[in-house]
Formats: sequence, structure tokens, C-alpha cells
Amino acid sequence: MLDTAVLRRFIGDVRAAIAAAHTPAEACARIRPHFAELLADERWLPRAYQEPAPESGMGGGIGQWLLYRAGDGSLSLFSLVVPPGAQTPVHDHLAWGLVGLYRGTQDEEIYSTAGERSLELRERRALTTGDFYVLIPPQDDIHRVRTTSAETSVSIHLLTNDTGCVWRHAYDPESGHVRPFRSGYVNVACEEEAG
Ligand SMILES: [Fe+2]
Repeated sequence: MLDTAVLRRFIGDVRAAIAAAHTPAEACARIRPHFAELLADERWLPRAYQEPAPESGMGGGIGQWLLYRAGDGSLSLFSLVVPPGAQTPVHDHLAWGLVGLYRGTQDEEIYSTAGERSLELRERRALTTGDFYVLIPPQDDIHRVRTTSAETSVSIHLLTNDTGCVWRHAYDPESGHVRPFRSGYVNVACEEEAG
């Protein structure tokens, strides 16, 4: 989607890391320095991919912009743009990878499934620009994020599925109700048959 030298090199490094690793944890450890470098570089992401989206699948004007997607859906890179005060639904990802903050600050709430039908808020963490974490489900896979900065926050997600197009889950934290959830991307349609 976004074809630049920086991104091509990053994706090349990620693919090499995954090929050389025996486990997701090892792959993430190998990807970390490249991901940190990407978050620290203020030039590679065009403004167009840092814009909110009024009609988004996430609601609240939250934009999810696809930057790269592997042909077989085994890897995707996208920016998530959350306007000040807006928050995502509570959702999961169903794939391992790395997530980090490129602009602004966010609060993240991590939930665990306490039982059949209930969710428990397990951890709350504040993220600031440049912070990132490794995500290896099921650990910490259910969360929501809210922008706490006066400026729109932009986070960068590298995940080993086609996150915007796969069917995953959104949760009502009060009732524990789970619904099928496909966020989509602002700039790319998902294949119809997947729905
Ligand atoms: Fe998320």
C-alpha cells in the first residue's frame, strides 16, 4: 500500500527475523530493534496515514490505515489513528506481533476473560510516544485504547494476520457480551467472501 524504501527495508528485516526464529517470542525479540527504529523515525509515515476516519469500523472517527499486507495474509502493518478522547471498542487481535505508539499518548486497558461471560479489567497502562510492546495471544490479547493527548494518537501495528479483514471479537466489558467484529481498513476493502 505504502511503497517506500524505509518500509521495504523494514518488511524485509521482519521477514528475515520471522524466518530465522523458532518461536513467536524469538521472532519478536529479533524484530524489536527494527520496530523501535521505525517508531523513532518521524519521516516515513505520510500525513495521509495519520488522519482520522469519520466512517470507520472502529467508531469514534478512528482510522485504521493499511500500510503493508502480505499476499497470503500472514503479515500486516497498519496505523491506528485515534482522535483525542476517542476509544476503541474492547477487542482482540488473534495474532502475535508488535504494537507501538508513534504520536501522542494513550491509555490501554487489558482485560481477561474471568469466566464464560464476564470480562475483568486486569491492567491499565499509559503509553507515550515511542513505547511499544510485544503481543503474543492469548496473553494480553483483549484490550481497548483511548487517546489521552490533546493531539490525535497514532499507533503502529505489526501483526501476523490480516488484522483489519479477519473476523475477530468485540466485547461489552460490562455484560461480557461478545460479538463478531471486523474493523476493516479505511483505504483498502476486505474481500467479500471473508464476511
Ligand atoms: Fe488493539
